[in-house]
Amino acid sequence: MIFDTHAHYDDRQFDSDRNELLNSMQDNGVGAIVNVSAAYESCEHIVHMAQKYPFMYAAVGIHPDEVGSLDEEKFARMKELFKNDKVVAVGEIGLDYYWDNESHELQKEWFIRQLDLARELNLPVNIHSRDAAQDTMEVIKEYGRGLDGIVHCYSYSKEMAKEYVKMGYYIGVGGVVTFKNGKRLKETVETVPLTSIVLETDCPYLAPEPYRGKRNNSSYIKYVAEEIAKQKDVSYEEVVRQTEENAKKLYRL
Ligand code: NI
Repeated sequence: MIFDTHAHYDDRQFDSDRNELLNSMQDNGVGAIVNVSAAYESCEHIVHMAQKYPFMYAAVGIHPDEVGSLDEEKFARMKELFKNDKVVAVGEIGLDYYWDNESHELQKEWFIRQLDLARELNLPVNIHSRDAAQDTMEVIKEYGRGLDGIVHCYSYSKEMAKEYVKMGYYIGVGGVVTFKNGKRLKETVETVPLTSIVLETDCPYLAPEPYRGKRNNSSYIKYVAEEIAKQKDVSYEEVVRQTEENAKKLYRL
């Protein structure tokens, strides 16, 4: 079944029909979802949601756009959430020089501290990186070696993808691969072995064609899997089966 490795079901866009939508997932071929926190305020909510739905897991961490609100006390409280056994990863963490909400120094500091946390807890990481290719690679090489993780919503070159794969990281592929201007990601998908690819929505964002621009949800991943099957010249079933196996191995489920 489809494994959505990165979703945001705490988002307000799901307020009107969240429960109904999530309860329909298994009938739509979706077997598991990792709900990922971004802001400090969402961490606790994410963990509660994972406790409510048997097929849902949680990744707890602070997005680079949000690290300005972190302090030692909040970080300590966030660490407490990892005692819950539905929390399977640290994320999403990383660098975002596109929105550039916080200084690069502050972003790096909290990125490194959260990588160290993953090492301490022996958990995989879910990495967000936008317009920060070189710095992210440098931080991962120095502080992320030996960790397991996903470079989520991968948007860089196929050459760099190969470097991540060599370090044992997975490449997160979502709706962008179905876009007309998604050529770079299609090339990455062609290059990277299926054993190093995982599926994701990043919903409510980045809905695949034919729903581009609309609210995304995990059942739309089938369009992503279809596109990957086309790029790699394998069956749709093989893409779903292998990416599910990859995700379960990574998240240790
Ligand atoms: Ni995300």
